[in-house]
Amino acid sequence: MNSVPKKFQINSVIHNNEYLINGKISKWSGNKANVYSTLLCDTDEKEPLLIGTSPEMSTESAMEALNAASSSYDSGMGKWPRMKVYERINCMSAFVQKMILKREEIVKLLMWEIGKNLNDSKKEFDRTIEYINDTIEEYKRIDRKCATIQNQSGVRALIRRGPLGVVLCLGPYNYPLNETFALLIPAIIMGNTTIFKPAKHGVLLIAPLLEAFKESFPPGVVNIIFGRGRVIASPIMKSGKVDVLSLIGHSSSAIALQDLHPQKNRLRLVLGLEAKNPAIILKDADLDLTVNECLSGSLSFNGQRCTAIKIIYVHEDIKDEFLYKFSKKVDELELGMPWDNTFLTPLPEPSKPQYISDLIDDATSLGAKIINKKGGIKYKNFVFPAVLYPVSKNMRVFKEEQFGPVVPVVSYNDVSKPLDDMCDSNYGQQASIFGKNVDTLGPIIDSLVNLVCRVNLNSACQRGPDKYPFTGRKDSAVSTLSVHDALRSFSIRTFVASNDNELNKSILREMIDSKKSNFIRTDYYL
Ligand code: G3H
Repeated sequence: MNSVPKKFQINSVIHNNEYLINGKISKWSGNKANVYSTLLCDTDEKEPLLIGTSPEMSTESAMEALNAASSSYDSGMGKWPRMKVYERINCMSAFVQKMILKREEIVKLLMWEIGKNLNDSKKEFDRTIEYINDTIEEYKRIDRKCATIQNQSGVRALIRRGPLGVVLCLGPYNYPLNETFALLIPAIIMGNTTIFKPAKHGVLLIAPLLEAFKESFPPGVVNIIFGRGRVIASPIMKSGKVDVLSLIGHSSSAIALQDLHPQKNRLRLVLGLEAKNPAIILKDADLDLTVNECLSGSLSFNGQRCTAIKIIYVHEDIKDEFLYKFSKKVDELELGMPWDNTFLTPLPEPSKPQYISDLIDDATSLGAKIINKKGGIKYKNFVFPAVLYPVSKNMRVFKEEQFGPVVPVVSYNDVSKPLDDMCDSNYGQQASIFGKNVDTLGPIIDSLVNLVCRVNLNSACQRGPDKYPFTGRKDSAVSTLSVHDALRSFSIRTFVASNDNELNKSILREMIDSKKSNFIRTDYYL
């Protein structure tokens, strides 16, 4: 610990024993889970370091959280779903002000819990604050557009977006703050009530926000519980009381949870799932630019991003030059601790290094070679990224989402090869295409846009900016997220219609003037 800069040291084990249900922060007296960090594994420490404990909550407490969310929603008749838009916005604005105060604590825990480097941890926090502020502005804009009574074919209508109900929100470990909040924040602001369970890594960093959630929102709107999915999430789904499953994670978990719901058509899905985004390098590509984009695309945060480039297709004519330049750059990447701000850091999942080694062994046993000198060097919870070539369809790394530091490379002569592979793949999030000739690029792009949902021209795959749509085809996503789209995904259009006659006109006029309804009104929040 002495090697850690003073401001980032954890001097004693952090005991998080609190949870939030029905507007009350309570102390958990049952079983606790140990929270380890893999960070000091490669210095003088022998074992993973115990940095904290977190509640292992029971099925009964999960049901208590569900009942709180359900009563607060009260079939849409609760205070929160019927509140004026500006009142909900005021609650969210109060929350974001309180959240800002926790920046330092949360950034430090992001480093310790998931090994994200300092700059990226700060970026995750700041991007989340920006996301919340943008969401507030976007909701005002949507509400402004709805503040008008239309008249079509003799029927007047006031159409707004209404909430869906109780949302179960489960986030991923690689963006335990940002991606989870990209689900939670739009769900809350649209008038839904929520139950949120953090991912298996990145639990301690949620605890500093419990007070802010409690103080900013009415009881039952946000319920935060900790523990295992099987004990907490499964019974909640089985109850049939969940209206939206919002999850960023693996498709197998999403399917297992959906299957538990007894009323399938009641359940809406907002899912961000796995991907196998390819980079396709054409023979006229600017190789230096391509190498840099493939490097950050495939290996930033050690490849633990759903948007990472997970397989590279390079044209035969330039394969040798690409492999030489790319593997040289990979070997130059620096490993260190998150506070050193190095590109490579230890992996937070204890079993990940073995999994990556297994992928490498499988590929090499079937004919691939490790192209870079340091590729595959393993030490405790660190694996140096391996560039594998030639990779073929029978290797595990060709199909599996590695979500870690291994980069499979395939060569091709005809671009129909990567396109055919993409057609056969069960994933369809993004692709990167590198090249210059518009005669070649044009038709390829026209095919790619129908195979994935974002084609990155001479650029790495990525999610941001968050105002752009983030979605996928096949097993990569359900629904679309962006600042604007997420507000739509967590709501439904609902409206009041009336035949256009004098009686209805005078009722509507009086209702608007007297402000007797929160729904029928034509004023809006500036
Ligand atoms: O893990 C999936 C994230 O949405 C990736 O986001 O491309 O901004 O790193 P990013």
